[in-house]
Order: sequence, then structure tokens, then C-alpha cells
Amino acid sequence: MRLPEEVLLQRLHGIVAGLNQDAIYRSVYDPWGNLLAEGVEPLKRQLLNDFGKVDFQNKTVVDLGCNFGLFSFLASAGGARRVLGLDSMPEVVEGAEILARLKKNDTIAFQVFDFEEQKSLPGSFDMVMLVDFFGKSSIRKRKVDGILEFMTSSDARELLFAIRPINRIESDLKLTTSTFATLYPQKYIHNDSFSLLDYIGDILGSQWQIEPISRYDGKYCKHKLLFLCRRI
Ligand SMILES: C[S@@+](CC[C@H](N)C(=O)[O-])C[C@H]1O[C@@H](n2cnc3c(N)ncnc32)[C@H](O)[C@@H]1O
Repeated sequence: MRLPEEVLLQRLHGIVAGLNQDAIYRSVYDPWGNLLAEGVEPLKRQLLNDFGKVDFQNKTVVDLGCNFGLFSFLASAGGARRVLGLDSMPEVVEGAEILARLKKNDTIAFQVFDFEEQKSLPGSFDMVMLVDFFGKSSIRKRKVDGILEFMTSSDARELLFAIRPINRIESDLKLTTSTFATLYPQKYIHNDSFSLLDYIGDILGSQWQIEPISRYDGKYCKHKLLFLCRRI
């Protein structure tokens, strides 16, 4: 009889093999460090280092759009008391659940959940994480406001974002400045770039204080940087 661990691992291989590569956002490794599938987005050391500076100690954390749960597992390793990863794709949720079982981590759970379709989170959390979600597609489709409303409607006191704070309208968002100007107010457009961080700050309002976790000099940066927003 095969060990359950082998069965789980085989199922995980089957899941990653059955997915389109663009559904696997970060490379997936088994708990022994073997690569199971390449992700579309390389994990930058800087983001990893910055994530290590976040205080997760004893917090309950929900990870929106967790994919195979890389950042959920990192929050758990960083001391979070309980982590829930949510994703709308059942296959990646099943894969992340298998990884949690293989890692024998019972403080982390994953759930199929479309946070753009739901009104509230499935539970109460200290921190809501949104890592690398606000990109070309969500900005162009003007999803930012609705997602921020969803995040702030919970009782969480902290929001963690990995975003590119300034986005070049043509090269990053693939829009002309004139089209972009029909989507967002002029005050967020400077030097043909969109100040996403300023936009988020204004939508969140004075109830929230934004603190950079990554080093940020206010200039354009191609990579995603980490920002923590605290409810005040
Ligand atoms: C760009 S990836 C980011 C993954 C992860 N946060 C990371 O940085 O490694 C976005 C993830 O969000 C999921 N997603 C997209 N729209 C969603 C929604 N409305 N509700 C839940 N998950 C969603 C996708 O399936 C995908 O796994």
C-alpha cells in the first residue's frame, strides 16, 4: 500500500501538469525543495527580504488571490497564528491544501473564494494581504476601488499590499495617456505615469496610515514593493 504522502504528491504533480502555465504564478516546490512547476512570475529576492520584515507574530491573516500559497506559507513561517489563503481557482486551492498537508502545517488553510463576487471575508482577521494583484489588468478594468472597499469592509486593522507604486501608462499598463485619462482623475497622472500608491491612499482615506515596508524613494520602480496600511 502506498503512503498517503506519496498519493498526495502524485495528486499535486497531476494538478500542476493539468494547468496552463499562466495559472501557476510562482514556481511550485514540494516540501523537500524539488521543483514541480515553473511559475510565470519570478520571485524577486528583494520582495522576499521585505516580506521577512513584516510583523506576522500571532496574527490571523487572510491572503487574497493566494495561488499555490507561497505568501500564505511565508506569513505562517513568520509567526502568523492562523492563515487562510483564498483563490478563485479550485485547482490551485487544492494544490495549496496538499502542500499544507505535506508540510504538516495545520495552522494554514485554503478555500475557493472569489473575493470580487463576495461581500465579506469568510471570518475575522487581523491582516488582509493582497500580493501582486493590482497590475495591468485590474488597473485597466478599474477594479482597484471595489477590491479596496472589500478589504476595508472587514474588521482587519492591517492591509498588506505588494504593488508597483508608480506605473508607466504606456509601457506598464499598455494604454495611451488619453485613454487612461478617461479612467482615472488627472491628479494621479504625472510624467505619463499613474501614481497607484497615491490613488490607494486617497481611496483608503484618513482612517488608514500607509507605511512602506520596502525602501521607497517615491520614484518609479519596476519591481513590486511592500506597503503596510494600519487602521488608525
Ligand atoms: C497575480 S496572481 C498573485 C498570486 C500571489 N498573490 C502571489 O503573489 O504569488 C493572482 C491570483 O489571484 C487569483 N484571483 C484572481 N481573481 C480573483 C478573485 N476575484 N478572487 C480570488 N482569487 C482571484 C488568481 O487565480 C491568481 O492565483
